[in-house]
Amino acid sequence: MQTKRLDTSPAAIALAATLIRRGELVAFPTETVYGLGGHALDEQAVQAIFTAKGRPAGDPLIVHLADRRDLPHVAASIPPLAAQLAATFWPGPLTLIVPRHPQVPLAVTAGRETVAVRVPAHPVAQALLQAAEVPVAAPSANRFGHTSPTTADHVLADLNGRIAAVIDGGPTPIGIESTVLDCTTTPPTLLRPGGVSLETLTALIGPIEVHRSFKTDTDETQGLVSPGLLERHYAPDHELWLFSGRPEVARAHLRAEAEQALAGGMRIGLLLPEEDLALMRDLPAEVESLGPTADPEAMARRLYAALRALDERKPDRMFARDFDDTGLGRALRDRLRRAATRVIVIDGEERTA
Ligand code: TXA
Ligand code: MG
Repeated sequence: MQTKRLDTSPAAIALAATLIRRGELVAFPTETVYGLGGHALDEQAVQAIFTAKGRPAGDPLIVHLADRRDLPHVAASIPPLAAQLAATFWPGPLTLIVPRHPQVPLAVTAGRETVAVRVPAHPVAQALLQAAEVPVAAPSANRFGHTSPTTADHVLADLNGRIAAVIDGGPTPIGIESTVLDCTTTPPTLLRPGGVSLETLTALIGPIEVHRSFKTDTDETQGLVSPGLLERHYAPDHELWLFSGRPEVARAHLRAEAEQALAGGMRIGLLLPEEDLALMRDLPAEVESLGPTADPEAMARRLYAALRALDERKPDRMFARDFDDTGLGRALRDRLRRAATRVIVIDGEERTA
């Protein structure tokens, strides 16, 4: 199958909507990352999504709606908290877990009685969902476990020939995935930090439980965290070492390890904020800048593209520094830790690994 690259004209959107309604798969831009869309109420289309991605059937998909008023079509009931959050944050980068409506196939939810739903804000996603007139199941449009796509080229690099079409709407404006909040528990549970920060959500609805696997405070991860402890995901093909701790200290350790790798004849890659790179200009390395640390939105926008670009230059080892655990930093930290082959946490001045 040849994957068509579509533009964002009304005719192209209409074609993409027809393909979706027919059970074909179409990748499309959202404000977070590109999604791999299929008819959410068509079990075969849903199966095809899992096949195209190489995704294990146990990992459930997010259902995308054009409008929050469509929520009753996919939710059996709407917890008051979910209604409040939908009214505040939709359209936008927040995914809510609610009880599954019986017409949503269990294939979408991987057998769960809950379903993940969001209304994306991107104009192209909006146009496609409105034209399709059906709920669209869409995971990120990458091969399973690989780095999420923020451009149509990233989608094609992973899925060319495996899906009917991709709508090229340019780079995605947020660059990391939506926040996932389970509204069926009391208090609600943060399952994935993302585009809407935990602080913003807490300010509106009060206490939120943070799922164990997403706690990224240094207290919980003292010492060397073995790669197996944090599920590897969003992963590049080459080694990635992540240095966590106070910026000056983490930077110094990162530099020492980078010098040692160079001395051993390795080709190295640096995935770092502008300030860090300014201090490492003398190192012969492949570099990708995330921009200034003062601009976390820009760092989020660049993260996946920079990771892919560095990875493509096939360094023997890549080096990155951890983010702060506040605001968007929590989501950035989560993604980098899942991409890393090794996390080195430095406690104060002491090097613990
Ligand atoms: O920003 C996004 O959310 C992007 C764009 C395309 O909308 N989509 C995305 O989908 O990141 P995906 O499939 O890569 O991630 C969905 C996440 C997974 O971590 C999945 O386990 C979780 O949502 N999820 C989906 N349904 C769930 C459910 N019923 N209960 C718990 N977690 C669920
Ligand atoms: Mg994904």
